[in-house]
Amino acid sequence: YYIPTFPIEDHEKHFRSMPGWKARNDDVIISAYPKAGTHWVWEVVSMLVRRKAERIPEIKEMAMMEGITEQIFESLPSPRIMNTHVYFQYLPNDFFDKKCKIVYIIRNPKDIAVSFYNHHKKLLEYEFDGPWDNYLQRFIQGKTDYGSWFDYTLEMERFMESHPDYPIHVIYYEDMKEDSNTEIAKLARFLGTEVSDELIRNIDSLCQFDAMKKEKNVTEDVTEWRDNNPGMYRKGQVGDWKNWFTVAQSDMFDSIYQQKMAKSKTKIRFCI
Ligand code: A3P
Repeated sequence: YYIPTFPIEDHEKHFRSMPGWKARNDDVIISAYPKAGTHWVWEVVSMLVRRKAERIPEIKEMAMMEGITEQIFESLPSPRIMNTHVYFQYLPNDFFDKKCKIVYIIRNPKDIAVSFYNHHKKLLEYEFDGPWDNYLQRFIQGKTDYGSWFDYTLEMERFMESHPDYPIHVIYYEDMKEDSNTEIAKLARFLGTEVSDELIRNIDSLCQFDAMKKEKNVTEDVTEWRDNNPGMYRKGQVGDWKNWFTVAQSDMFDSIYQQKMAKSKTKIRFCI
């Protein structure tokens, strides 16, 4: 199981100790396979719980479970809006004992593969400079950070089926792109935050792709990126995969998808 390295000493030791960390009742966990739109939803949820349409000065990585220590986790003010790409078994058991709310983001895996490829190419720590076709093979085989998209998605589905009463809200990247205002209103209801329609509209507008790219890119450490050019906010579209997948790659992906997801109830839209 691959996870990225993070700039903390004894990272593996901290990571392995995570199941024992103590949760707080109002912790919220944003959970997603990488590149599903975590930065976007984290920003929205952080504004919603503060009930303010104001840019969040912190960066998502400061609240990323697998990238921090227990000490940092404990130092964060409540309500803590955490985010993670790891399986639930690695997270604090106490999250689940306390039934902390989970927001689970799903995005179609063809766009994820393209986004993740660019992520691997542009972030220098990966030292990856391979062609798209090679990367796609790795993605399908789950030989990327956090393992296979298919396994992750099926595992999340299993969790929801076996915990029907667990407070988990599913949000699709494609739905957010289609009608972010409605999706943000649903998020607010799930979080139990009373917000006006106007506040939702203002939060929505601050969290649109162009606004976030302009205002959050400056929080990135440019030295971590190829050509000093941060690529976290790349295109922000549904269907960019059509510019990358050949017809043969798309057909091959579809048949693997149908095979692996045959029993899945997760409904994915590859276009809007
Ligand atoms: P692309 O590479 O397709 O552009 P994550 O935050 O989970 O790492 O996901 C990153 C993906 O979400 C990137 O996709 C990024 O551009 C996109 N994204 C980030 N902020 C967004 C926003 N406000 N609106 C739409 N997409 C956004």
